[in-house]
Amino acid sequence: MAKYKTLDDFQVKNKVVLVRVDFNSEIDPATKKVTSDVRIRAHGESTLKELAEKGAKTVVLAHQGRKGDPDYTPLKEHAAILGKILKCPVKYVDDVFGDKAKAAIKTLQSGEILVLGNVRGWDGETKSSTPEQASKTELVQNLAPLADLFVNDAFAAAHRGHVSMVGFTAVLPSAAGRVMERELKSLSKALEKPEKPCVYVMGGAKADDSLEISKYVLGKGIADYVLTGGVTGQLFLAAKGADLGKGNMSYLAKKELTGLIPGIKALEEQFGDKVMVPVDFALDVDGKRKEIPASKLPTDYSMMDIGSKTVETYAKIILSAKSIVVSGPMGVYENKEFNLGTKGILTAIANSKAFSLAGGGNTIAAIQEYGLTKKIGYISTAGGALIEFLMGKKLPGVAALETAVATKKI
Ligand code: 3PG
Repeated sequence: MAKYKTLDDFQVKNKVVLVRVDFNSEIDPATKKVTSDVRIRAHGESTLKELAEKGAKTVVLAHQGRKGDPDYTPLKEHAAILGKILKCPVKYVDDVFGDKAKAAIKTLQSGEILVLGNVRGWDGETKSSTPEQASKTELVQNLAPLADLFVNDAFAAAHRGHVSMVGFTAVLPSAAGRVMERELKSLSKALEKPEKPCVYVMGGAKADDSLEISKYVLGKGIADYVLTGGVTGQLFLAAKGADLGKGNMSYLAKKELTGLIPGIKALEEQFGDKVMVPVDFALDVDGKRKEIPASKLPTDYSMMDIGSKTVETYAKIILSAKSIVVSGPMGVYENKEFNLGTKGILTAIANSKAFSLAGGGNTIAAIQEYGLTKKIGYISTAGGALIEFLMGKKLPGVAALETAVATKKI
């Protein structure tokens, strides 16, 4: 039995339901426009639609970017996108818990949706807090008395113990929204009882995250193989003593990744062939792709992708797997000369009969670009939260739901 309540546990008709979602989207730095509606759509088509159809008065709380960052924007456009997705008017008030926000909440009618201002406009929001501490803040003290139920649907932000993520659970009846529920169920399936053989494909440049995840999933016997690519694959190869060439090695050093080498070496010694590294690479030779075997390293050229032999070797393992988790591209896939690795591996995953799970912004973008969305078992809306979940960490937003006050049912 789930340790948290869900929308099935409450009657929401005519009730004010405060829903924390994660609308944090990619923003074009020049126009400040939202460039991907993936997250807005995920919440809109499930939790928010359901609440509206059930006659709740829905108040949406969300963030976009952080103050000072180029993607920090109001949520007016997000509200308009939500309206288009739901094909109904969605109200917006550029205020989080002041008089304007309160007045807008009080006049909401059954079935209506109101989006409040960017919660990070209030400086207290990003302070990591316990539910108890957070419940005493202005945000919770002002909004909670107006609401009957708190719903946390923001799995993608659940790794943040921010006030809006944890505070309401200490004072209001609380439930997980449908996105939160779906993410937790699908990810737990991949992590707790994956069908064997289970393969983790770790690419991208966040080698520190890949190392932590690999340690956890191999150490716990969750994964049978970890296949590495991208900058992660290069670093994992360097940890075996390979010299990648001056330019490539100094790139790793500049990104402060070489300090991870002793930890990767220890992992490789402990798990041997279960940790796989690329056997060939694609180099950027005057803008063109040129493949070389790993045995021909070092090179003066930049390593941009895994090579075709690696794709072939990894694809065989992928095709024999029963569950697959993929996070991070195999190379600089945005450049067509170097997308062979990412495209090849994602296509192999899409063609396998295994349950597959994908996450992370670049991976999702690549899956969409290659038209593979429908062939992936589950695509998470999360980036950082997914990584922390896969490392076996308890997410504060989820923990708060599990310890939510046992207030009377509404
Ligand atoms: C995310 O996109 O990972 C979440 O919305 C959290 O955003 P943050 O990294 O700015 O806290």
